[in-house]
Amino acid sequence: MTVTGIVKVALVTGAGSGIGRACALRLAEHGYRVVLAGRREAALAAVADEARALGGEALAAPCDVTDAASVAALFETIRARYGRLDVLFNNAGRNGSPVDIDELDIDEWRLVVDTNLTGVFLCTRAAFGLMKTQNPRGGRIINNGSISAHAPRPNSIAYTATKHAITGLTKAVSLDGRRYDIVCGQIDIGNAATEMAERMARGVPQANGEIAVEPLMDVQHVADAVLHMAQLPLSANVQFMTIMASKMPFVGRG
Ligand SMILES: NC(=O)c1ccc[n+]([C@@H]2O[C@H](COP(=O)([O-])OP(=O)(O)OC[C@H]3O[C@@H](n4cnc5c(N)ncnc54)[C@H](OP(=O)(O)O)[C@@H]3O)[C@@H](O)[C@H]2O)c1
Repeated sequence: MTVTGIVKVALVTGAGSGIGRACALRLAEHGYRVVLAGRREAALAAVADEARALGGEALAAPCDVTDAASVAALFETIRARYGRLDVLFNNAGRNGSPVDIDELDIDEWRLVVDTNLTGVFLCTRAAFGLMKTQNPRGGRIINNGSISAHAPRPNSIAYTATKHAITGLTKAVSLDGRRYDIVCGQIDIGNAATEMAERMARGVPQANGEIAVEPLMDVQHVADAVLHMAQLPLSANVQFMTIMASKMPFVGRG
């Protein structure tokens, strides 16, 4: 994948597992130089090895997206090594404890906000600065929202609030990026089979208080969708995409 002869560079946060791993491998398979960010160095190194086995180029770059200095160091590495960034997939995220709001500790609220919202802000801020000055100019930012950017699950105040906030961030970056050929879209995923979603297969609380097993979809469908979004020319953008297990409770309010 090239921009006028230059190999495209893609950064995936939370690349050591789940959706981030699947998307990073798919991008590597399709010719992107992938930068793998996350806190667990060993997990990133394992995904980098998998990418190389597929014939791709990958760099494991440990980073905590909640830490401004750590994100700055990550982008310094990208700038020094590749001089540009074509795709940022803001994927790193976490849940909070499933408790009533009055039982949610302020530190846990802050951890979810720092990861799901401030982490996306920090990576987007750095990517925006690089993309608007690089030559050729511009790039693409893809934010990982959720079905929770549309409708909450019971006892998910911090996760739901941050994922709704991502929708506003996506729209604002999409607007402000126009002047610099920076495009921004959002993928809202429902029940992709990853570690984070495996509880769906065991049964999770529903709005009516029942516990129900929910259908899951293969995470590879998400990788296909992110690749499609990434590969579009900068003159076109998937602004929002919802991809979900077809029969999960959402459409039809249950
Ligand atoms: N699976 C689904 O059905 C589903 C549905 C909707 C939305 N999503 C979203 O998809 C994203 C990925 O979720 P997943 O299902 O693939 O779960 P996952 O395997 O738990 O992935 C989360 C990733 O985020 C990374 N991460 C967490 N905190 C971080 C931090 N402070 N700095 C850097 N990386 C951090 C983790 O790596 P380290 O621990 O190594 O840092 C991990 O690789 C999340 O944003 C989630 O909200 C998933």
